[in-house]
Parts: sequence; C-alpha cells; structure tokens
Amino acid sequence: MDAAVATATVGGDMRKAPSHASIAEQDAFDDLSRLLDKPRLNIERQRSFDDRSMSEFSIGGNIKVGMDGYDAVYSPGIISGLDTPLSSARNSFEPHPMIGEAWEALRRSLVFFRGQPVGTIAAYDHASEEVLNYDQVFVRDFVPSALAFLMNGEHEIVKNFLLRTLLLQGWEKKVDRFKLGEGVMPASFKVLHDPNRGIDTVVADFGESAIGRVAPVDSGFWWIILLRAYTKSTGDITLAESAQCQKGMRLILSLCLSEGFDTFPTLLCADGCCMIDRRMGVYGYPIEIQALFFMALRCALSLLKHDAEGKEVIERIVTRLHALSYHMRTYFWLDFQQLNDIYRFKTEEYSHTAVNKFNVIPDSIPDWVFDFMPSRGGYFIGNVSPARMDFRWFAMGNCVAILCSLATPEQSTAIMDLLEERWEELIGETPMKICYPAIESHEWRIVTGCDPKNTRWSYHNGGSWPVLLWLLTAACIKVGRPQIARRAMDLAESRLLKDGWPEYYDGKLGRYVGKQARKFQTWSIAGYLVAKMLLEDPSHLGMISLEEDKLMKPLIKRSSSWTC
Ligand code: GLC
Repeated sequence: MDAAVATATVGGDMRKAPSHASIAEQDAFDDLSRLLDKPRLNIERQRSFDDRSMSEFSIGGNIKVGMDGYDAVYSPGIISGLDTPLSSARNSFEPHPMIGEAWEALRRSLVFFRGQPVGTIAAYDHASEEVLNYDQVFVRDFVPSALAFLMNGEHEIVKNFLLRTLLLQGWEKKVDRFKLGEGVMPASFKVLHDPNRGIDTVVADFGESAIGRVAPVDSGFWWIILLRAYTKSTGDITLAESAQCQKGMRLILSLCLSEGFDTFPTLLCADGCCMIDRRMGVYGYPIEIQALFFMALRCALSLLKHDAEGKEVIERIVTRLHALSYHMRTYFWLDFQQLNDIYRFKTEEYSHTAVNKFNVIPDSIPDWVFDFMPSRGGYFIGNVSPARMDFRWFAMGNCVAILCSLATPEQSTAIMDLLEERWEELIGETPMKICYPAIESHEWRIVTGCDPKNTRWSYHNGGSWPVLLWLLTAACIKVGRPQIARRAMDLAESRLLKDGWPEYYDGKLGRYVGKQARKFQTWSIAGYLVAKMLLEDPSHLGMISLEEDKLMKPLIKRSSSWTC
C-alpha cells in the first residue's frame, strides 16, 4: 500500500513533504505550527505529562463558556498539578483507588509526535500476541481520552489531536484505484519513531487497510463533536474559527449534505462504518450513525462562521436537521403502543395515504421484541429502511440521541425507563451491552458472514463494552436520573481494575472477560474516568450535551410513553 507519510524531525526545523503532499498541505503544516502557538521545544518524546511544567498545559484555564445551555453551571477548575487529577483533588472524601490507577494507565497510552502529545493508543496490552492495529490512535477511541483530559484542564493534547487529524484529512485517500471523498477523516493513525534519524512519521488508515475496507463514517462526526467540546471547555473559539477548522468541518459535512437519490434524510451507510466496524447487519441507516450525524450537525451549527462559505452550509444543516429529527422521532421510535401499531399494519399500501410507509411486513417482527418491550419505556430501533426494521437495541445510538436532544425529553425519559425495566438484558453485570439481543445460528451465519469473533453474546454481537459507561452516565445525568449511572458505576468498579480494563466482556450478563478482548484498553480506562468526573461534577456535561432546540419540536405525538 502506498500510504501517504508525513515526516518531520523531532524538535528540528527540517521537514519532508508527504509523498502525496500538496503545496496546500505544506501551508497547512506552517499554519499548524502557528496555531499551536508554542515554541517548538525539543521535548523528550516518551516523557510523561507528569514531569512537565504547568504553564505548558494550562492555557486558558478550565473555563466553561456558554454557547448553548449550561452557562449557569460555571465551575472554574483550579489546576493543581497534572499528576493530581482535578477530580480527586476536589473530593471532600477519599477518592476511589481506581482513579489513580486509571490516570496512570491513561498516561501510559499517550502518543507523541515531534515531542508533543497527539493522542492515545487503543490498547497498551503487552500480553497480547497480536498487536494488529491496537497500537494506533483511533479517532473514536480518543474521544473519551480527550474528554478526560479536558475535564482535567489538559487542553493541549486535544488541540494537537484535532489539528493533526485535520492534516490527515488533507491527504489523498485511495482504495486500490478508487479515490475517497476529500472530507473523509481517518479511522486511525500511527506515529512511527525512527530513533536513529530522529524522525517521526505518521501513517493513517482511512479504511484502505481496515478489515473489510470500510471507511469510518463516524470519525468526521466525532471530530466535529470534539471540536465543540474543546471550544466549550476552554473558551478558546480561535481554534474552531480558524480557516483550517472551518474548512475541515465544511468538507466533512459536504460528504453527507449533498442531494442525490435519497428519499430519506438519514445517511445511507455501509456495514461496519462505526464503532461496530465489521459485518453485523448495521448497513443501511444504522442508529449509531444517524445519532452521531444529528449531533455533529448541531455542533457544526454552533461552530460555523456566518461568512459566505459558512452560510450556505448552515442553511443546509438547518433544513436537514428539521427533516432528520422528524424522520427519526417518528419512524425509528418504538414503544409498546408503536409496536402494537406495527403488529397490526396492513401491507402493500400505495400513495400518500399509506400508514405503513415502508411496507414493513408484521411477520418480520422478531418474537423476542414482544417479550422485551415493557409497557413503560421505549427506544430508537437499530435501522429503518424499505420492508426492513432492525428492532435491536443499540446503546451508543440511544445515548447519543439523548445527549444531542434528537430524543425529545419524553423519549429520553422513556429510554431511561427501559434501562431500568430491562436492566439484566441491557446493563447486565458489566455495563453495558453494545446491542441487544445477540444474533445466533442461521441468522448469525447470514448476517455476520460466519464471523468467529462475533459469535453470540461476544464482541459486537451482544458483548458488553465498558467504554459505553461514559455515554450512559452522560445520558443519565442529562435526563436527571444519575442514580442509574451510579448503579452501573458500582458494577464497573467491582470488575474493571481487577480484570485489567478489558476491551469487552462476553456472555448474556457480560460476566466473562471477552474471548479476544485486549487488556488495558484505553477507552475502557478513559470512559471510566469520564463517567466518574461527570458524576462528581455534572457541570462537565455541557461539553458533550446539547439542549433541546425548541424549533424542532415533534409535530405528532405517537404513543403513551411520550407523555409519561
Ligand atoms: C475494534 C472496535 C473499534 C475500535 C477499535 C480500536 O476494532 O470494534 O470500535 O475503534 O477496536 O479499539
């Protein structure tokens, strides 16, 4: 593979152009240096944060600015030393012993480029025989790390990451002879250190090396969401308003706002283009992507400048958000009443008067969903497309839907009710299930293509992922039900450290460390820290939560649980 590479000497001035670099990229590199607005220090590469002086990291302090909501909850943090996380320093009681261990493990996963921290590797697991790509910085995996650092007043690494990945976006991306869209962000990147020549090299994967060769649709969305979190946490609007970041956002959005053959406002996706990055029947219009899409659109709306180029995108975003919220809240929402309605659907209806618009055949409703659906509660189902409703529950999409207010307040409450009613199934013993239920037997063969890693109740197929704890916690706090998160936190604390921070757990209740789970999986560690800090200081929520937009109020009320 002729991967593009960017090389730079450690601490020096000499730069070599990437193999596919254009003049624009050279300029971007110069701008990057300016934006970093720090003298290019010759910092020893593997040095941990702990040795560093405060001034290196404390730009702007820990100020929370109000771009939307939560302005009143202002909690200035006092940066008390980087080896003393704010979260534990602020405690009036003994901090949980896991917190210190988690910070240590998180710092061990830091990745440096030219002496500057630019991300965290996916897993720091020396015991595992196969490294695969777990030694890379994954965009989606870095999000909880970034939030942990932001909550702890360490902003620089997040800024470096945002700018470094922005440069990668500028690379020419190809799979065989086919060129990918300009705005595609990488799934992951890796820094190669050449100690002899003192050179650091970056290689990135946009899907051209990934198993299954799928481009990560979620990366660009996470990038925008993180840019807003950074801006909100630091009060530093200059990064988001820089020409590069504005362009980066526009490029990401132009990949998904173009008009075409689509009859739905949801985004059409290939299987495996998100956290579930292998064949699992999540192609079409998966909730995991639709919720992130919605959130990224809303974040971009608050960050895009109203200049000539920005204005046009803003208009498109507003139009799309209206259509998307209506579509999702109407057709993806399932509760007892809605299930009963679908069960009684007539089929083969034609014209505008059709009730069963997608011609869903009631016989295709799986048996499990009738037992699973409580009379109180509801959720956004996995997928909706012509004659196909995927009734599975997906945790990330539902939590993100709450965070970005894609879910109405009533729907958010109903999701929380469902979690309480179906605790064993959805949370189990190690929070929490990535999806429910697992697929098995013939269905597993057809849907996964006989994937031995995704056997029932393992990995992406109903496995339990500790990283999801931060999303669950944030969603619970937003809905005003922190006790649900606390209950999940108690479970996590009884296992995570003891089990070596596994990537995932297996089994119906998630009791077993996953068959092929990595240990010291960074986002399991960071996810725990973020959840912990959120519970301690809920004002952090403003970074990753968006209040309801009154203009997007649903037009219709579909069922009883919407009004509970
Ligand atoms: C696995 C996960 C993916 C994650 C990656 C690195 O491929 O499915 O979501 O980003 O590992 O941890």
